[in-house]
Amino acid sequence: MKPLNLFEYEKQAKKCLSQMAWDYYASGAGDEITLRDNCAAFTRIKLRPRVLVDVSDRQLTTKILDRPLQMPLLIAPMAFQCLAHPEGELATAKAASAAGAGMVLSTMSTHSLEEVARAYYSPTPTAPLWFQLYIHRDRGLTRALVERAYASGYQALCVTVDAPVLGRRERDTRNQFTLPAGLQLANITTRSGLNIPSQQGESGLFTYFAQQLDPAVTWRDLEWLQSICPLPLVIKGILRGDDAARAVEFGVKAIIVSNHGGRQLDGAIASVDALAEVVAAVDRRAEVIVDGGIRRGTDILKALALGAKAVLVGRPALWGLAVGGEAGVAHVIKILRDELDWAMALSGCAKLEDIDSSLIVVSR
Ligand code: FNR
Ligand code: LAC
Repeated sequence: MKPLNLFEYEKQAKKCLSQMAWDYYASGAGDEITLRDNCAAFTRIKLRPRVLVDVSDRQLTTKILDRPLQMPLLIAPMAFQCLAHPEGELATAKAASAAGAGMVLSTMSTHSLEEVARAYYSPTPTAPLWFQLYIHRDRGLTRALVERAYASGYQALCVTVDAPVLGRRERDTRNQFTLPAGLQLANITTRSGLNIPSQQGESGLFTYFAQQLDPAVTWRDLEWLQSICPLPLVIKGILRGDDAARAVEFGVKAIIVSNHGGRQLDGAIASVDALAEVVAAVDRRAEVIVDGGIRRGTDILKALALGAKAVLVGRPALWGLAVGGEAGVAHVIKILRDELDWAMALSGCAKLEDIDSSLIVVSR
């Protein structure tokens, strides 16, 4: 039976995936408290619908960094999408582009960034396509990734700052997570021969991060990135107002409030709980996006009511991909769009600008 909602996709996806792939996608760090709290936090936010508003004609379109979006949604950067389906990131790109949703491609993709850009841009995309960057110790490799992303038409550089080391995901340690034969770090292998090691007694991804990613990255590296690349900078993984304000002072154009889907620091605040503080600190000087635990259209409504311009959706896209490839991702996006549309109608919002903080109350 075709899933009716994202939770049904999750159940079906589990049946389609190997234990190692399922655990990698599903897991959070440590006791997975933050992973669970990302969803639980949305249930603590209640809606205060407005009535007797003409909602016969509803508008879900918006803009992010000057690019049009058919709905306030982008697919989050997620590594290794070919674990879910042979078309992996290509299928995700085609589904997002056709729906007018945005996409952020992970550095750790299993199709190359050039191939993904081609898939996204054909036939005619309008929505944003961004490249997510992990800063490697090897700055030559890092620089080459940035230059390739720029040359391929990515419109922003999304630097993930919450992963100086990889979070301890015990399920991946137990499975000694690695990529199956035939899959590789498509953006990196070609140039450097680097890949995810196997049989380390540890997650191969954890080992890769420890060896290749630079835990010494600071704000000064943002200046370096700005000096080598004209693309606007987006920072992903901010949970505090003071960090957000500092990012704005560095000229960052968009901030993604995120705890990496509960995969990094366990015990970190749920991202939607950090949103209001960041929105206040940014004070309209940059765009604010949030991710983590968005599973329903009402979650998007709540995020927008708290001041987010758009949301990123992570795991649900992987569930769609596992169950139905491109069509599965397309259906996941459609479900969220339809649910947001209903939620707007039922709360008296004809357009996204009508969604404001008076729509919500947070209960403890
Ligand atoms: C991620 N995430 C992530 N983030 C990033 O900046 N670069 C990456 O390569 C990845 N890889 C990745 C793989 C998998 C399997 C998952 C589940 C997540 C984090 C991702 O972009 C996003 O922040 C969260 O997934 C959002 O939470 P939800 O929507 O999954 O609850
Ligand atoms: C993850 C990394 C790759 O969350 O960002 O698995």
